[in-house]
Amino acid sequence: MRTRITEMLGIKHPIVQGGMQWVGLAEMASAVSNAGGLGILTGLTQPSPEALQKEIDRCRDMTDQPFAVNLTILPTIKPVPYAEYAQAIVDSGIKIVETAGRNPEPFLPLFKSAGIKVIHKCTSIRHSLKAERIGCDAVSVDGFECAGHPGEDDVTNLILLPLAAKRLQIPFIASGGFGDGRGLAAALAMGADGINMGTRFMVTKEAPIHEDVKHAMVNANELDTALIYRSLSNTARVFRNSVAEQVLDIEARPGATKFEDIQPLVQGTKGKELFEQGDLDRGIWSAGMVVGLIDDIPSCEELVARIVADAEAIISERLTALMQA
Ligand SMILES: Cc1cc2nc3c(=O)[nH]c(=O)nc-3n(C[C@H](O)[C@H](O)[C@H](O)COP(=O)(O)O)c2cc1C
Repeated sequence: MRTRITEMLGIKHPIVQGGMQWVGLAEMASAVSNAGGLGILTGLTQPSPEALQKEIDRCRDMTDQPFAVNLTILPTIKPVPYAEYAQAIVDSGIKIVETAGRNPEPFLPLFKSAGIKVIHKCTSIRHSLKAERIGCDAVSVDGFECAGHPGEDDVTNLILLPLAAKRLQIPFIASGGFGDGRGLAAALAMGADGINMGTRFMVTKEAPIHEDVKHAMVNANELDTALIYRSLSNTARVFRNSVAEQVLDIEARPGATKFEDIQPLVQGTKGKELFEQGDLDRGIWSAGMVVGLIDDIPSCEELVARIVADAEAIISERLTALMQA
């Protein structure tokens, strides 16, 4: 399949692995890139800009295919030297960056002068149009289904994607709720140039997380995610475990929620330990509604090949037959 995204990024299949905190290590990104998609290292998973440069080198040793780095600009408990991370990305010779969280405008002159293609991930049409206006090369449109931060508008991809197709000139990638060939075919039908997946890539052989986390996601259904931080207007979709339930209970108390009340439950280090140790109630982790569609743990190669083959079959057999009927 050739789309504006495969052409722009120099990849074989229109499938991108979104940045994932603690998961987007070289093992993950290189496996997706070797499978013909675009793997993405998560910048802030590395403790310093120097460590990120080392991780980029490690990923280069594991694949000769294009891969990207995600730079997520969100409010954090500890201040993050974003400019130094951005410089490390440029100095490492990376040619594709996924930005997310906030307007990437301050970083665009640096990235553009280095010939980097910038894909900004947004959860609304107004932010997608803004990204186009400020010079981003593409956007990932993250619908309400997605893992992580879906924003506060609660608009699903059935609405967002056709709107993006109508209003945007730059290529766009459908993100949130994708995990199979049906999803890819549907995204292309709605005008997208490819799909971005987080949750589905977590449940692969190469994802560098504990097997028990992967099995919990295989056993989960589409109701097993929760929207936390709604009361703080910083909504996050996470796996519905006992910690997510406790956060929801605190948020449901009368009066304004104080982040201090929640913070001990949701510390990033606990999420990292959860992924390392497989203790499913140690903290919280991002997961999308697409867990309801996941029932195996394939390699990235098997997964990408299956999604593409299934989408091609849907387009060339089922949809074509409907036209001939
Ligand atoms: C475990 C996990 C961690 C994530 N961390 C980040 C992150 O640090 N930055 C970011 O921009 N998106 C992050 N995301 C969101 C993904 O990049 C992607 O937008 C999302 O997973 C798409 O929805 P899906 O899970 O339904 O495929 C994360 C997703 C997951 C599952």
